[in-house]
Amino acid sequence: MEDKNNSRSINKISIIVLFIFSIKFLGHINGVLSSPGVDPRQGRWELLLDNVGVVAMHMALTHRNTVVISDQTEAGESGYRLRRRYGSGGRRCSSSGDDASDSDCYAHSVEYDVSTNQIRPLRLESDTWCSSGSFLSNGTLLQTGGYGDGSRRIRYFSPCADRRCDWTQSRRSLSDERWYASSVALPEKDRVMVVGGRRVFSYEFVPKTDSDENSSHLPLLKRTNERRSQGNNLYPFVHLSSDGNLFIFANRDSILFNYRRNRVVRNFPRIPGGGSRNYPSTGSSVILPLDHHDNFERVEVMICGGAASGAYLSAREDHRYREGLSSCGRMVIAGNSSDEEPRWHMEDMPGPRLMNDMIILPTGNVLIINGAERGAAGWELARNASHRPFLYNPNETYRTGRDVSYPTELRLQAFIPHYMSQQYNGHRPSNITIHYAESHGTGARYGEEFRVLFWLGRRPSDDLQFTVYPPPFTTHSMSMNQRLLRLRARRVERRAGGWVNVVLEAPPSPDVAPSGYYLLTIVNGGVPSVSQWLRFIHPNLA
Ligand SMILES: *[C@@H]1O[C@H](CO)[C@@H](O)[C@H](O)[C@H]1NC(C)=O
Ligand SMILES: *[C@@H]1O[C@H](CO)[C@@H](O)[C@H](O)[C@H]1NC(C)=O
Ligand SMILES: *[C@@H]1O[C@H](CO)[C@@H](O)[C@H](O)[C@H]1NC(C)=O
Ligand SMILES: *[C@@H]1O[C@H](CO)[C@@H](O)[C@H](O)[C@H]1NC(C)=O
Ligand SMILES: *[C@@H]1O[C@H](CO)[C@@H](O)[C@H](O)[C@H]1NC(C)=O
Ligand SMILES: *[C@@H]1O[C@H](CO)[C@@H](O)[C@H](O)[C@H]1NC(C)=O
Repeated sequence: MEDKNNSRSINKISIIVLFIFSIKFLGHINGVLSSPGVDPRQGRWELLLDNVGVVAMHMALTHRNTVVISDQTEAGESGYRLRRRYGSGGRRCSSSGDDASDSDCYAHSVEYDVSTNQIRPLRLESDTWCSSGSFLSNGTLLQTGGYGDGSRRIRYFSPCADRRCDWTQSRRSLSDERWYASSVALPEKDRVMVVGGRRVFSYEFVPKTDSDENSSHLPLLKRTNERRSQGNNLYPFVHLSSDGNLFIFANRDSILFNYRRNRVVRNFPRIPGGGSRNYPSTGSSVILPLDHHDNFERVEVMICGGAASGAYLSAREDHRYREGLSSCGRMVIAGNSSDEEPRWHMEDMPGPRLMNDMIILPTGNVLIINGAERGAAGWELARNASHRPFLYNPNETYRTGRDVSYPTELRLQAFIPHYMSQQYNGHRPSNITIHYAESHGTGARYGEEFRVLFWLGRRPSDDLQFTVYPPPFTTHSMSMNQRLLRLRARRVERRAGGWVNVVLEAPPSPDVAPSGYYLLTIVNGGVPSVSQWLRFIHPNLA
């Protein structure tokens, strides 16, 4: 349960990096990259802040270019003292006596502003420890569950330009306690599903269609639960397949699930490689890029790392820290052109890894970062922090990054991938503007055209890609709702003065890409632009 301590030793803050490609750091980074002795082909690390004040157990990038961070609220002191308690009738916090160590007198959530590199405290009414989240179509973060008084809570954070907004808590509550549950944004407008939790073998929808709607059993969760090992199936991996079903993976087993009918459509084979993949064994999972060439129909899952069988118990009881899993499995779950039965294709990372994060870069490569080599997650049971990020190209075999030694704690770190090097600036698309059809100026409609204008003072590469990526909610090696799509370009025209005009086609439906904000990145021969926020609007949007 001490994820907090684990987050302190093996920190997740470095994930912030992943969003570097989105925002305005470009000039800043370029300056640093030119320093001698740095090999830009390996990428590099940069320290952004010495102390964010709050452990970044949960993080999410908002479309206002801020990152919302929250920890558990019973964590004692944080870097931000409050003058008054949020609850308890707003009672004053004095700087002495019991108040000095009273959790209620400290903020346990902050908002980080990417462009100014500053932090401001936010106020939570209930404990978000091991909670889950998804963004709604208007960019509001819906966070669900947590611990104790927070385990059935539903919270909203609507990011705002003036940076005065804060968390609000709904009067409604979840049907079941959701501690270590996963959240997935559904194709229906502003509806999410929350799956699992500690000793909770069910799922439920938020918001509910009527107030009597209860949770529904999900036998997969009961079947895969190893009680003596804290489950080994918590924070199940959940991905929306482009056929409208959900892929749900727990421990070692997985299903394709029709949530509209509460029906298991398919049972997939067990992933080879022994061990377990979900908390506290904690591997990580992505769906590989969805591509317009097959109309986004082919969906392939990739799961990497995890803990050896019995690792939790042997660490807890015998202080023996077993080596984590090196293996990754890939399986096509939808849209395979052959009729062959789905099966896992296994390969190995350069070393063992658990508590790893997997992030899809705009190039379509997968960055495997953070984590540990031995033991299990939680309760300070992990050993040998993984300092070395791995870069995976889905078309090739593993490539290895360089050793980067990094003691972390509360520092805010950025990993800057090699493609940000200024040596590539001549190939980097810039000055991007997005132009929606005039009749609906707020976003792109499914299946319809929209226009993108950008500057590139040379002929674009033959490999010019237009990728979109929704901001995920990240905790415990999971990036909930992460997906990357390569969009079809209907026309690419070079214009005078180095400008390029492109007519893009929005994805065909919310099954492929639920409505909301996405980062659009133009990738020219492997060199990404600075991303721009793009919105897909739901057909039912009034
Ligand atoms: C976004 O939608 C949510 C849910 O419908 C709502 O609570 C919130 O106020 C909306 N936020 C904005 C900024 O419109
Ligand atoms: C809702 O479902 C849970 C099991 O998931 C059950 O324990 C509970 O009694 C149900 N509540 C109602 C009001 O039916
Ligand atoms: C899909 O096709 C590939 C190539 O023909 C095959 O290797 C794989 O096993 C097939 N089945 C699935 C659904 O993974
Ligand atoms: C992988 O191959 C596909 C099809 O050839 C191509 O579109 C894509 O860009 C490649 N991805 C990477 C990451 O190289
Ligand atoms: C793991 O960490 C321990 C303790 O710090 C150290 O003695 C050991 O050499 C490390 N093992 C590996 C495989 O790096
Ligand atoms: C692109 O934008 C930058 C900064 O916003 C500006 O200085 C530059 O002139 C623009 N380039 C073109 C070709 O308009």
